[in-house]
Amino acid sequence: MPTSLATRLAAIHPSATLAMSARAAEMRGRGIDVFAFGVGEPDFEPPAYVLDAAKKAIEEKKSSKYTAVTGIAPLKEAICAASARRRGVTPSPANVTVSVGAKHALFNLALALYDPGDEVVIPAPYWVSYPEQVRIVGAEPVIVETEEENGWRMTPASLDKALTKKTKAVILCTPSNPTGTAYGERELRALLEVLEPHDAWLIVDEIYAELVYDGFKNFSVATIAREMKRISDRTILVDGVSKSYAMTGWRIGWSIAPKEVAKACDVVQGQSTTNPSAVAQHAALAALTGPQDEVEKMRAIFEKRRNAMVGGLASLPGVKCRKPEGAFYAFADVRGLYGLEHAGKVIENDHDVAMFLLDQAHVASVGGGPFGAPGYVRFSYATSEERIAAGVASMRRAIENAKRAKPA
Ligand SMILES: Cc1ncc(COP(=O)(O)O)c(C=O)c1O
Repeated sequence: MPTSLATRLAAIHPSATLAMSARAAEMRGRGIDVFAFGVGEPDFEPPAYVLDAAKKAIEEKKSSKYTAVTGIAPLKEAICAASARRRGVTPSPANVTVSVGAKHALFNLALALYDPGDEVVIPAPYWVSYPEQVRIVGAEPVIVETEEENGWRMTPASLDKALTKKTKAVILCTPSNPTGTAYGERELRALLEVLEPHDAWLIVDEIYAELVYDGFKNFSVATIAREMKRISDRTILVDGVSKSYAMTGWRIGWSIAPKEVAKACDVVQGQSTTNPSAVAQHAALAALTGPQDEVEKMRAIFEKRRNAMVGGLASLPGVKCRKPEGAFYAFADVRGLYGLEHAGKVIENDHDVAMFLLDQAHVASVGGGPFGAPGYVRFSYATSEERIAAGVASMRRAIENAKRAKPA
């Protein structure tokens, strides 16, 4: 039918995290005080010097015209300097593509790299957009299951099993959304050794790399890849200011890739969005070049919140929760709540648990199904310790008041 939608959309799921926020927003509209544990964004404002830089860019008329498609030169240089400072690797501006958030950077890469029929290896639990972006361009996500007992880390053996002649790329996220798991140097090195003989891209999403706790030493794949020439030529890093500088709304992310990939992203972006907003680029430039102590302050606050959220969840009847190394998510095993009654039905899966918590405890969260981890629920702790404590107390009441229709 000429007026039908493109067939490629048939296999694509809408973003589950955004769907949950929409439902929570609708409840708030009815005057209900909803605990915002669903969304993946910090509750902080960006540092004041970032906002001042944006105002200055407007006043100095630096923000009203198109910029270079993949970003202004000083921002690309600042990204290279930040990479040197934080990851120990200095790319050149020609490797950098600045995009409308890290999500857009990943989408550019999907269009630039994957052909229909290509396979892209993604460990589960995964950030919801990875497999969907792969499907949109007609490629096939190959999901590698991981175990909670193994810290949700993909093992070298399971990576090896997933790689085939059709593998075009492997996507890693460390620290991870939704599990908060971060890979250590030894684990990354072991994965890279498996990947080395295969002619596939390695895309590493490091958007949460600044948010690690308990003194965990974040080890960038870039540092290891540098020692392994064959991998280094195929490694692509994705990052942005959304999470570490509390700038989700400003929409600035980037990829750091071999030059031929960066050039391809320039073509893709040049025929789609053109440059990311000019004023946001100036704000991101200030974020990367300004004093970095605000980032450390936010990180330290997140660490306390993580302890409050994980401790609180683990104390709830029927809930277990691993302590993650980074990001701002607690990923809890809620299978012990199956069998409780809610809305005249028996709770049977993680989606039911999330709906029960929303209706009965006014806690927004996201069921693990869309992340490839049924039986789990993701709770974001990007909100104050007081709110975390009150939300946990509210969940406790809801669970204790619920009738059990079936044993767990
Ligand atoms: C793992 C991961 N990568 C990328 C993004 C997208 O970030 P941005 O806001 O820069 O598009 C998110 C946002 O939730 C994320 O969790």
